[in-house]
Amino acid sequence: MDVKSRIHILRKQLADHNHAYYLLDSPSVSDYEFDQLLEELIQLEKSHPEFFDENSPSQRVGGDVNKSFDTVAHKRPMLSLGNTYSEEDLRDFDKRVQKIITEPYTYVCELKYDGVSISLHYKDGVLKQALTRGDGTQGDDVTANVRTINSIPLILKGNPPKEFEIRGEIFMPHKGFLEMNTDRLESGLDSFANPRNAASGTLKLQDSKVVASRPLDCFLYHSLGELIEIDSHYERLEVAREWGFKTPTDTKPCKSIEDVLDFVNHWETARKDLPYDIDGIVIKVDGILQQEELGYTAKSPRWAISYKFKAEQAVTILEKITYQVGRTGAITPVANLKPVQLAGTVVKRASLHNADQIAKLDVREGDTVYVEKGGEIIPKIVAVDVKERDLFSQSVTYITHCPECHSELIRKEGEAQHYCLNEKSCPPQIKGKIEHFISRKAMNIDGLGSETIDLFFKEGLVHNVADLYSLKKEDILPLERMAEKSANKAISSIESSKSIAFERVLYALGIRYVGVTVAKKLAFHFQSIDKLRNADFDALIKVDEIGERIAQSWLNWLEENENIEILNRLSKAGVSLEIDQAILAERTDVLEGKSFVISGVFTHHTRDELKKLIDKNGGKNTSSISKKTTYLIAGDNMGPSKREKAEKLNISIISENEFIDLLT
Ligand code: IVH
Repeated sequence: MDVKSRIHILRKQLADHNHAYYLLDSPSVSDYEFDQLLEELIQLEKSHPEFFDENSPSQRVGGDVNKSFDTVAHKRPMLSLGNTYSEEDLRDFDKRVQKIITEPYTYVCELKYDGVSISLHYKDGVLKQALTRGDGTQGDDVTANVRTINSIPLILKGNPPKEFEIRGEIFMPHKGFLEMNTDRLESGLDSFANPRNAASGTLKLQDSKVVASRPLDCFLYHSLGELIEIDSHYERLEVAREWGFKTPTDTKPCKSIEDVLDFVNHWETARKDLPYDIDGIVIKVDGILQQEELGYTAKSPRWAISYKFKAEQAVTILEKITYQVGRTGAITPVANLKPVQLAGTVVKRASLHNADQIAKLDVREGDTVYVEKGGEIIPKIVAVDVKERDLFSQSVTYITHCPECHSELIRKEGEAQHYCLNEKSCPPQIKGKIEHFISRKAMNIDGLGSETIDLFFKEGLVHNVADLYSLKKEDILPLERMAEKSANKAISSIESSKSIAFERVLYALGIRYVGVTVAKKLAFHFQSIDKLRNADFDALIKVDEIGERIAQSWLNWLEENENIEILNRLSKAGVSLEIDQAILAERTDVLEGKSFVISGVFTHHTRDELKKLIDKNGGKNTSSISKKTTYLIAGDNMGPSKREKAEKLNISIISENEFIDLLT
């Protein structure tokens, strides 16, 4: 077979497997087989650049960097929907429809996905352009980023019209959102406030490779164009599904407004169990000709309306805005509230995120504010009751200097947060770094807590992490609240931290972007702090998963004399700064490239022991089952849903003994 035909076949096969996995939720091949096919395609495309195709499955990984996005006019305006908040509003909507449409009509109810709207253009069955909503008449061309979203087809199946547009919502499911935020926090990055912000922030990123690594998904719910000769919105979506689009699943045709109300009531509570956020229900007249008859107002269609769920809200007074300094120097403004009951807890504080957020809300001290608990853990201020505002109230002047060390704050271009750069002597940064160092995932010094660190710092006993190892019992015993027992515990747990593995010490140093995973990669690759210190930029970025940003951050850290001194002192104190040779000797790569989920109770090993075995043999531990999982190790009392999911995804389910056999 000639190369061109082989490339063609591989592209078709990979697109079909992708469709089976992301749309049908039933994988047609194992990960391994998929990766083999993809690798073959990548190699062929590399040696035959004349066959390049931007819609090849190999392009899903991204690559294009957009300096700025082109603005493109929408063929038809992207309107928004009118909102309703009550049963009465919905009945009024139905009455308005009845007035215009005299013959029978039905509604279709859909979930209202809480993400960013997107318009996709296809020509001759391939994706040509993806535009954001923008101001409704023109949007940004984000095609390169959208190509990386696996659930969006690049090439359609069946017989779609020659040219058409379909619109929908790009969103981030909860699971991916939480994992991404945990990783970001561990690496010293700001976390996203909610999945919607994460989705919209991601879609506007310049580097499509980064977009490819983010867990975006997309439902398509609105097909446009006279070319589709089907007079029913519901049926159009069914056909769109056959062409390869991910269309809404929890959709219901409703014969009457009573059916609509039942649907709305059901999802008012059932939405809590969905794996993504919805903020309401969209009710659409099903007949396309009837939709045209109803037409549009300047802002929204008359044939559809949204019903918005009520977020739990409370009204209270914003007493004071204070500013917190994090371990990385990031400043977060905090609203200190008059305590108020909200969704089962008493709320005293709400995050104001950054200076832009304060300006956007024009929130001021003394204001009466509406506080809401959405998907986020920390409540937020959603609005100000300006009518209640004091005549003499003044708008907030954002601080220009650090509230703790008084150095001038810096806000870098493109960053939302202000930063205090005085790492070396800003107290919360110093204490924050030490607290991170002693934390469980780092050096696990459980004889110390944030209060003791505070005390030691105040007394001038510790200024950086190396100082911990110079502490003596007689230094700390005279301190307030330090009894013989707690002093002993503090000293002994510092002592035992000396045997903590090198990769954890590296993570404990709290270097920006060096989270648990990165620290592990660096530690096992270079094996000792000396080799790591000698590595230059090129050597660093050659390591799997180490990018330019991480490499630069490490090199910047090394440039500080104080940090070198810390390393030298840690080394002198006996902290492990190289991989233990015994561990290295025990390590194998028999599980290289394999990903495991452990579930249930086992006879011969604890779950922790199994995890360690996986780690030691080059495998990867993950907490939940996905397409990427190779094996589910099943013990007693494993939850039935885990088994079901693994079976659905064709993942091998093995026993404890079968796992041990894999190691030999
Ligand atoms: S239909 C002419 N259906 O809600 C408007 N919109 O507030 C056609 N949205 O801009 C939109 N889920 O971004 C429609 N099932 C759904 C939706 C939905 C979410 C968003 C969409 C729209 C906004 C309007």
